[in-house]
Amino acid sequence: MNRPTNSRTGTSIAAALAVFLAGVTMSSPSSAQDEAHKSAERDFQSFCASCHGWGGAGGGPVADVLSVEPPNLTLIAHRNGGTFPAKKVYKTIDGLEMPRAHGNKQMPVWGVWFAYEAIADSLHTGDKTPPPEKIDKRIRGLVAFLKSVQE
Ligand code: HEC
Repeated sequence: MNRPTNSRTGTSIAAALAVFLAGVTMSSPSSAQDEAHKSAERDFQSFCASCHGWGGAGGGPVADVLSVEPPNLTLIAHRNGGTFPAKKVYKTIDGLEMPRAHGNKQMPVWGVWFAYEAIADSLHTGDKTPPPEKIDKRIRGLVAFLKSVQE
């Protein structure tokens, strides 16, 4: 059997992988905290940026069609006298405890969606982490992400 092509491919894949891994290692000190921040940032881009803008400062593509303009999320601390109200932000994202009485609420209730994903994940992967723990971790990640983008 003639395999030189295969082994050359193997070598170049290994070389490419080495270059890639070197890049990854150089660009991130890869601590657990870093990983948590990245996954929260991914969540933010997937679920929040459409309304709140890529970096949270507003101007997301969906913002125009809402009757309430999504607030600039980099100014939460500023609007709150310089302190970032982590607990309140957590509850706003979770959404389950928010009063609905003012009838003008355009911000989705993310607690429900994260609960759905946590349960689906447990069913598919057999992961035994209780879903409420996963939901909490995810919302805390988003709160920390938002805290990190305050002006
Ligand atoms: C469909 C558009 C939309 C999406 C998607 C969305 N939001 Fe909002 N958000 C709003 C609007 C509108 C408000 C203003 C409050 C209201 O609804 O009364 C708001 C308010 C907030 C506030 C309160 C800010 C303050 O100063 O009190 C936070 C925090 C927030 N959003 C975070 C998020 C996060 C995190 C996500 C993603 C998980 C997200 N939002 C996704 C529309 C959206």
